[in-house]
Amino acid sequence: MKKIVILFSGQGSNLLNLIDQLHMRHCEVVAAITNRPDAPGIEKAGQQGIHVDIIDHTHFTSREAFDGELVRQINAYKPDLVVMAGFMRILTPVFTQSVKAINLHPSLLPLFKGAKAIERSFESDKADGGVSVHWVSQELDGGAVIDQRSFTRSEDETLESFTLKIRKIEHTLLPETIITLLSSDK
Ligand code: GAR
Repeated sequence: MKKIVILFSGQGSNLLNLIDQLHMRHCEVVAAITNRPDAPGIEKAGQQGIHVDIIDHTHFTSREAFDGELVRQINAYKPDLVVMAGFMRILTPVFTQSVKAINLHPSLLPLFKGAKAIERSFESDKADGGVSVHWVSQELDGGAVIDQRSFTRSEDETLESFTLKIRKIEHTLLPETIITLLSSDK
């Protein structure tokens, strides 16, 4: 069975969804890794029997040093694919040049790269919102898009309802993309 490692920083709703939909059915979630010791996802993943490594970025003096430890930890699991699901770090070439990773982003890239993508997308004059999954490259949220899914906002859309639509898409698009990638990469 193919192996994946999942990186996250916060609530971990995508992490839990991936464990639920994929683990030991389509692939093995060998570990999750977070940069935040207080991430709520840690306990929830632990309850699902997934080992979580904490690499606290505040203990490192440079991005490169943090990325080096992250890469070392990832390599120990020998994953076929690394999945960034709400992992809020700017990565250096130490990571991007040695790890095969995909990232989930809550906008229709190349629109709204970077932080607060949902809010900026909601506040824009675009009729559509959406979600992207892309390869991780040196450019922040700039690697090749693998798949995207969009929706047209309703007339009475609020930030809350807009966010819920994005969440719902994320929870189908990311697992589907992983299944496709792992099955095409024999
Ligand atoms: C998700 O909406 C994901 O698309 C976004 O963070 C959220 C994590 O939620 N990622 C980014 O904005 C990356 N730039 P979760 O922790 O509940 O899965």
